[in-house]
Amino acid sequence: MITTAINLTYLLGATSFVIGLRQMSSPDTARKGNALATLGMAIAILATLFIPISNAPNNYLWIFVAMIIGGIIGYVSAAKIEMTAMPQMVSVFNGLGGACAVVLAFTELAQFANGYSVLNDGQLLILLITLLIGAIAFTGSMLAYAKLQGLIKDHQVTFPKHNILNLILLAGLLVLSGYVYLHLNDPSIWQIVILMVLALVYGFSFVAPIGGADMPVVISLLNAFTGLSAAAAGLIYDNKIMLVGGILVGSAGIILTVLMCNAMNRSLLNVLIGGFGENNHKTDTKGEKQLAKEITYTDLAIQLYYSESVLIVPGYGLAVAQAQKVVKRLDNLLSANGVEVNYAIHPVAGRMPGHMNVLLAEADIPYPKLLDMEEANEALPSTDMVLVIGANDVVNPAAYDDPDSPVYGMPVINVWEAKNVVVLKRSMSPGYAGIQNNLFFHHKTKMLFGDAKATLEKLNDEVKTLDS
Ligand code: TAP
Repeated sequence: MITTAINLTYLLGATSFVIGLRQMSSPDTARKGNALATLGMAIAILATLFIPISNAPNNYLWIFVAMIIGGIIGYVSAAKIEMTAMPQMVSVFNGLGGACAVVLAFTELAQFANGYSVLNDGQLLILLITLLIGAIAFTGSMLAYAKLQGLIKDHQVTFPKHNILNLILLAGLLVLSGYVYLHLNDPSIWQIVILMVLALVYGFSFVAPIGGADMPVVISLLNAFTGLSAAAAGLIYDNKIMLVGGILVGSAGIILTVLMCNAMNRSLLNVLIGGFGENNHKTDTKGEKQLAKEITYTDLAIQLYYSESVLIVPGYGLAVAQAQKVVKRLDNLLSANGVEVNYAIHPVAGRMPGHMNVLLAEADIPYPKLLDMEEANEALPSTDMVLVIGANDVVNPAAYDDPDSPVYGMPVINVWEAKNVVVLKRSMSPGYAGIQNNLFFHHKTKMLFGDAKATLEKLNDEVKTLDS
């Protein structure tokens, strides 16, 4: 009776996860989706607490104390975190999920090795997989966090030929896992400890050579790993909600990883062996010598004010400058004069999935004004003015015309098809891909140099003088 009730409650929790995830795919419903998935998790935890514990009733005290401490830490960090630091937070939380999987698998294997429990071959295999994947996700995510937070620089943790070292480590890990599995019926706790330590070292070493800027893709992949290890633990404990939750996290993480790689036109292997954004920091000096034309605040204000349509292309620089609310004020001023203002959102603009959507939502920019890349490209030929704010790679024409460029083939926003383009950035420095952008020298383009927030504030003042 109690088991049926728990399973039905799990079904409710799992349904909330699925509907919540579905709702998270649109900014309109994402908030509701998040709340629903949280409710699903609360239901799942509550139901789990009702599973009768016959041999260790005092565990409830540990569980509640841990839940209260964890809940407070989670709430405070989520409330305090800056939007630009979100990837770091996801990375830490993901790493802790991996650590949980390691602890669970290690405890079960240690109990078996010491003769306190009986496990069949299938269960032993699942526990080994949980231990390995969880350990890799744990140290890998923690290193990803340290890199993103700027605590560790790429070169401090990378050796020459690091990818070969990683292959050797991986081969060693697989051989040792095979050995441990074959000898598990006569287990030694030390074999399991050595395996766990090697997996922890491999997780660190696996992430070490990957460029700091590629971390969002790696975090998404490690997130998938953690989900899969949770799903494996669900199999061991015969816990259906853990299994469903783990599979959802695992598959969502894999889908997101693939989508990010596709949007950057790169293979996952290319990301993992650190081939982009790291070795391309040389700027095209020939490009530097070309002449980029500048525009004055007054001229830009006039052009914007008397345009019929303006398309704003936000990028990573908008997030760095935290200029989203100033953009909204510019939008209000122009819209009040009858200008149609929209935003073109590239799927990998910024440094994390949905980065631009989140920033613009923070400034209460209505969702219908956000055009996806395809819609924006259709609208561009009839657009009077494009304002590129802190974006670079996602508007680089080399994606079409330079087969040697690392961004060649990446889908981009074709801003040069509009009647006029103005780019707001601080200098001629390249973006994430480390390459020069010929858009800045295009005959339709003018540059306005400076920090995006300060620049837009001055521009707003100019527009206001036209308004009065
Ligand atoms: P980027 O190509 O990185 O360019 C950002 C530009 O912003 C820079 O050229 C920089 O030039 C400018 N900038 C920085 N701070 C600024 C400030 N305070 N004010 C004004 N401008 C500022 O950005 P993007 O066009 O958004 O492209 C994103 C890149 O990240 C793509 O290559 C993408 O593949 C990669 N990536 C994205 C993701 C996700 S999921 N979004 C994940 C991994 C990698 P200055 O220094 O001259 O100002």
